Order: sequence, then C-alpha cells, then structure tokens
Amino acid sequence: MTMLSENLTTETIRQSLATRIVGQKVLYYPSLPSTMDIARQEVASGTPEGTVIVADEQTAGRGRLKRSWLTPTGNVALSVVFYPRLSELPSLVMMASLAVVCTIESTAGLNAVIKWPNDVLIAGRKVCGILIEADARPVDGDRATHAIIGIGINVTLDPASFPEIEPTATSLYSETGKHISRLAVIRELLKELDRLYLSLESGASLFEKWRDRLVTLGRMVTVTSIDSAFEGFAQSVERDGSLLVRCADGAIKRVVAGDVTLKTR
Ligand code: BTN
Repeated sequence: MTMLSENLTTETIRQSLATRIVGQKVLYYPSLPSTMDIARQEVASGTPEGTVIVADEQTAGRGRLKRSWLTPTGNVALSVVFYPRLSELPSLVMMASLAVVCTIESTAGLNAVIKWPNDVLIAGRKVCGILIEADARPVDGDRATHAIIGIGINVTLDPASFPEIEPTATSLYSETGKHISRLAVIRELLKELDRLYLSLESGASLFEKWRDRLVTLGRMVTVTSIDSAFEGFAQSVERDGSLLVRCADGAIKRVVAGDVTLKTR
C-alpha cells in the first residue's frame, strides 16, 4: 500500500502546539526498539513533565500482559512522561483512552469505543493499545515518581499483512479507505492529553466519561490475566477503574488488571 509520506519531525509535531504541559519537549526517532525505553531514560535524566517520545517504527514495541506490539512505519507510536499525584494514577487509563477516542473522532470521523480497561475499538476491532508503566513510590509528598503512558494507534497498518492480529485488528485506513494525516493524529492526541490532564490536575473526574464509553458493560466476557482466565457478566466499574464481574455462581469478582474478550451476543 502506498501512502503519502508526511514530514514527521520534532518541529512539525511541536509547531504552534497550543498545550501547557504535553509536548513542550518532543523527541522524534525514525526507528527505535520501544518509545517506553527512551521515555524511561528521559525520566532518569530529569526530563520535564509532558515530554513526548515519538517513533515512526518500533522494532520491539511492547504491549500489556507481556505481549508485543507491532509498529511498522506509518503508524503512531508515542510515550508521554507524567509526574501525577498518587491519587491520579488510576485515572490515567481513563485519560489516555478518552484522549484517543476523541482524537479518532475528530481526525477520522469514526465512532470509537473503549474495551475495558483501555483498548480502543472501531466496529469491534482494536485500533489502539495503551500501556502505562508507573513507579508509584511517592516524591514531594503526594506525587508518583513517574508514569509513562504509551499509545499505539494503527493508522496505515493493513491487518491482512499480519496473520497474528488479522482477525482482531483494524486501522484508520482500513476503516475509512482514506489517508488520515498521522501528523494531525499525533498533534490532536497531544492536545487532548494536555486538556484532560489539566482537568484532572484541577480536581475534575474522568470516571463518568470513561464509563459511558465502555463497550464492555452488560456483556458476557472472558477475563484473562497473566496466569488465569474465567467467564462472567461484566456488571459495572468502580471509580478506581476496576471491573466487577458476576460469575455463574453469583459471586462477584473484582478485576484490577487483566484483559477481557467480549462474547458474541
Ligand atoms: C496493548 O494493547 O497491549 C498496549 C500496546 C501499547 C503500544 C504502545 S506503542 C508506543 C508505546 N511503546 C511501546 O513499546 N508500547 C507502547
């Protein structure tokens, strides 16, 4: 598939970017193993909050639950560094997934939903994965040492070229048949993350907005964590982001970390 090549550089990403925190420092790499690793190195050298690492291609992108994440050239892979309050840590999942949903709607005109906790789906297929790596040791009283939010959005990816994800993945190009500007997607995403983080910092809650976008609630699901799996009815979510699942024997299980597969209706 031939795509228009875009001039993705630190300068084009940052140009007149009207944000207060996110994107004040942007590092762009044509190719690297994972933006998460560079973000960690940046944290170790005292990088400012809102630093963004963007890659055109990742050669060892990683996902949740020890999975890998494919980032061939032409898609979006970035990590953003935050130093949030400890109380804000559970909200970062909500912030990141809401930012992606809004970005997809405004740049591609597509309706996107969130599969608990933070996969973004279009028409039932995954278009975006989010990975949060945080060090929750407190500094300055109530701040976490760091939280790095990694976001991968399939923009030009053709799922048919990758048999391992073909049944479950999609991309903005696959859904629209149009070239969606990757630069526009990145800039919009940074603006949305900035807007939502500022609202969190001012004490607002993202919980209701995130809950209302979840496609998971009211469905039969299979819950998978690293070492176990069970089935049940996804009943509700708690304000800390955990999922309450009713099992066949009536017991309610609270799931803090894991993945859900939606059963077909
Ligand atoms: C998942 O769905 O399992 C999460 C995928 C997260 C992928 C992004 S791409 C940018 C950042 N760098 C990585 O290596 N992973 C995240």
